[in-house]
Amino acid sequence: MLNLKVHHIGYLVKKINAAISEFQHLGYVILQDIVYDDSRKVNICFMEKDGYTVELVSPATPDSVVAGLLKKYKNSPYHFCYESTDFENDLAALTKDGYTAIDMPTPAPALGNSRVTFLMNANLGMIELLEVRS
Ligand code: NI
Repeated sequence: MLNLKVHHIGYLVKKINAAISEFQHLGYVILQDIVYDDSRKVNICFMEKDGYTVELVSPATPDSVVAGLLKKYKNSPYHFCYESTDFENDLAALTKDGYTAIDMPTPAPALGNSRVTFLMNANLGMIELLEVRS
């Protein structure tokens, strides 16, 4: 058992400013205003309510890595992100347990340039692994 701490829930949105307003209407507050991630071509905003951190992710260009996902899933949650204090070992353990990395570990500008990587699992879809200092 890995027992990694949940960091955030990633939420696909088509129009990020409209989504921020809507989440605010539901009582969410902005934790971190919109940051543009150049490598993934997405705009990202972190919001929080009741201890839940939600990452709004919106494609900035038609060739964004999430443009296809948004077409398929519309506005919807699409990944849970887990914190790793032992990134290489947790990544290896997940890979051994049937999670397939779909990108290389890459610095995430919206998360202080900590490394993240995304993995797919046949039973629960996409997860994100975030390297944190222990
Ligand atoms: Ni995320």
